Order: sequence, then C-alpha cells, then structure tokens
Amino acid sequence: MTYHYEKVLTPSAGLRLHLNENTSGCAPGVIAALRGITCHQAAFYPDYSDVIAAAARYLRVDERQLALTNGLDEGILAASVAALRGSAEDAPFEAIVIVPAFDMYAACADAAGGRVIEIPLAGDFSFPLQQVLDHVNRRTRIVFITNPNNPTGRSVPREAILAIADAAPHATIFVDEAYADFSGTTLIGDAVLETRPHVLIGRTFAKAHGLAGLRVGALVGAAETLARVRRVVPPYSLNIAATVALPAALADTRHHEDYLRQVAESKRLLYSAFDRLSVEYWPSEANFVLARFAEGATRVVAELQKRCVYVRDRSRDAGCAGCVRITAGIIEHTRRCIDAIAEVLCGAR
Ligand SMILES: Cc1ncc(COP(=O)(O)O)c(C=O)c1O
Repeated sequence: MTYHYEKVLTPSAGLRLHLNENTSGCAPGVIAALRGITCHQAAFYPDYSDVIAAAARYLRVDERQLALTNGLDEGILAASVAALRGSAEDAPFEAIVIVPAFDMYAACADAAGGRVIEIPLAGDFSFPLQQVLDHVNRRTRIVFITNPNNPTGRSVPREAILAIADAAPHATIFVDEAYADFSGTTLIGDAVLETRPHVLIGRTFAKAHGLAGLRVGALVGAAETLARVRRVVPPYSLNIAATVALPAALADTRHHEDYLRQVAESKRLLYSAFDRLSVEYWPSEANFVLARFAEGATRVVAELQKRCVYVRDRSRDAGCAGCVRITAGIIEHTRRCIDAIAEVLCGAR
C-alpha cells in the first residue's frame, strides 16, 4: 500500500471552503513587507535572525527550541525522515497514525521507509488511547497526534498525549498543533515537556495567520530532538518572501484576532444551520466543521460546486461516510455557504 497527499481542485474564484485556509487573506502589513523586498535581498540567501526572533517571541519559546520550516508539511517530512532513518524492509520501523488524519503523516512516513500503522478513532471520533497504547512496541519510531484533529475538529485530551509519550519514550511523539490558534490550547510551554524531550510540536502560520501561499511552519521541541530534525531540513528552506512576511503577520494582532472572532461566529452559524436542517455535525475546536449528510457527501459537494461553493468531501476517510468538511472563516462567506447548503438539501428532500 502506498500513501499520498490528495491534491484537490483549487479554483481561484468562488468560495474556497475546502482547504481550511484563511479566506480573509493575510494582514496588509505582509503585502507591504513583500513589496519592500530589495533586489539584493532577492539575490542573497536569507538571514533568519529576525524571523526566528519574531516566531520565538510569538510562541514564547527559546530560539534553540524552534526550527522554522517551509510550511508545516516540511516539518512533518523532516520529522518522519529523522525518526524513521535506518528502517529496513525486513524489519521496518513503524509510524502510528490515528485516522482519519491529515494525509501527510502516512505519506511522509511511507516515503521515509516506515511502516504505517493506522488506528481508527472511536465511532464518535473520540481518541482511541488504549488502542494506540496497545500498538506501541519497540519498532514504533513516531506517533502522529493532531490537536485539534483534522478533519474532525475534536481535541485530544492532554493526559492521552502524555500517556502515549510515557509509553513510547524511544519514539518521536509528533503533536501537530496546526489549528491551536483556534482552540487556544497548546503543549508549548507546558512543564510536563521538561521530562519528555521526545515530544515535538508542529505549528503553522498558514491557517490563523493567512500565510499558506508563502509556506511557513514551525517545530518546537527540546534542542536534542530538534538537532536530529535539523539534519534533514535544508539550510535555506524559507525563502525571502516567507522570511519578511512572518514578522509582519505576527505584528498585526488586530487582524489575527478579528479572524479568530469571525471563525468562532462562523462555527456558531454553521451549528445552528445544521440543527435546523437536521444535519449531524461535530463541534469543532478548529477553523472548520465536519458534517454528515444523509444525502451523501459526493452529491452535496457536487451540488455546492455548481454554486461555486467549494467544500471538502471526506467521505472516503475512516469512519467518515457521508462527511463533508467546511472551512469556517469569514462570516459573510459562511452565510453564503449556509444558504447554498439549505438550497441543496431542501431541493433534495
Ligand atoms: C493538521 C495539519 N497539519 C499540517 C498542515 C500543513 O500546514 P502547512 O500549510 O504549513 O504546510 C495542515 C494543512 O492543512 C494540516 O491540516
């Protein structure tokens, strides 16, 4: 079995509610910073001192505990390669992935030569702690945990993460916090990590800071764990555009907070629309909502697409029959999306 990241249609017009992007766009200061790039900055290899200082301040970590990557995708790949190096075909190292999950974990672990062990979430999408613990063994080299999870939007209990970390001290425990800005919960700065240096935390500035097109993510962890990852990250993986953009994005706290506020309100609007329309959904800690449509996901996605509303069919994911993931961003977009969903469902029922 091979694993890959499923790339989907990316229309530039219409409502892009299929990739959990920040559809309000980045902070205006980011564009000003990009315009300010000089011809020499473009010609020289970037200096990272300012961007690392800005990211460390934002994440409240020491710079030695931080590595910036070309999107969190690169961080996932680098962590996979670092953890699974030396895996042999006759005795492969293992990567535990709790599914449904972000495609990149299995794709990267597979590409790095590891054997992917998929463990399904429980029927109500709660975290399958005991099953994960049952699958930890001496070949386990990395465990991917997404908090809050994509595509369910549900949080993973801190105690569950710690129990896994304690059961697998020989493995990297990769806690992907791509959506932590929305949940407000993070393991960064938690004192429990002092005795668990094998926990590596992933963050991205693609979502809450609207920099998906510029590609910038971060890994936070103990210096010795990061040292192994740094060996497989190219020295200039952030280009100059991302390097100047991130400090500008982090400086505009008002833009960031406004987007978080709109996401929270959009989720409330989606929940009440789904209640009205008798659609099952899972309250989400992220900037998207997963909903199950009795009409079938494929039909709902296709009908919405005809109305230029793009949402993500997740029905082929484990335990997700009938499920569609919808980005909750700008309130006005959410209202238009809800109107389109109501039209599709009322026409079908
Ligand atoms: C859970 C999760 N991790 C990582 C990423 C990738 O982040 P980036 O765009 O920084 O590569 C995504 C993007 O959708 C995601 O959902």
